[in-house]
Amino acid sequence: MTLIIASILSADFARLGQQVEEAQAAGADRIQVDVMDGRFVPNITVGPMVVEAVRRHTTLPIEAHLMIVEPERYVADFAHAGADIIIVHQEASPHLHRTVQQIHALGRRAGVAINPATPLASLQEILGDIDLALCMTVNPGFGGQAFIHSMVSKIERLRAMIQQHNATCDLEVDGGVSAETAPIVTRAGANALVAGSSVYGAPGGVAAGIAALRAAIG
Ligand code: DX5
Repeated sequence: MTLIIASILSADFARLGQQVEEAQAAGADRIQVDVMDGRFVPNITVGPMVVEAVRRHTTLPIEAHLMIVEPERYVADFAHAGADIIIVHQEASPHLHRTVQQIHALGRRAGVAINPATPLASLQEILGDIDLALCMTVNPGFGGQAFIHSMVSKIERLRAMIQQHNATCDLEVDGGVSAETAPIVTRAGANALVAGSSVYGAPGGVAAGIAALRAAIG
């Protein structure tokens, strides 16, 4: 079954707990917390304290997507705050193998994300060690951006790489996922879809947003 991951970046932070509960009640499979430091990406969002707050409102697995420089300095804080999956960017991790080992040593699942222009080859040596490969389908930093359609062939090639190197690894996509693009990325090989504005910005509300994604991917 294709996983739907609600990204709280587009949620109403004034009532975040309730918004997280709505996503769980509507059938989301995971919750993603987007962590931005204003350096790796041109935006500043949240830290471990918000993961802790989200943890109190859901039993779903929580992904901490670290769009920060030097992520290795903070993985323990996010693990202790309640993140089940910690995703670091390949572009921010010169010692990626060590960082992945660090995340596993904390008893958490490890994910590696790559930006749209970053070649798949940068994942080749680490693919066998990770639980999730995240192919960004927008340039990270903001919700509500347009899906980059040239990423579809990259997703197909990543699916083939995963088949070859680590068939248990999730292929996750993030950015511009909607009822229109969700069938395209699942056909290309993605099994985990992060959605922010199409869930929290859906005219009919969170449940309608998730139902529309489910209906689109069948
Ligand atoms: C963007 C974040 C995404 C974002 C997706 O840098 O990593 O998780 O919230 O939002 P939408 O689904 O609106 O593109």
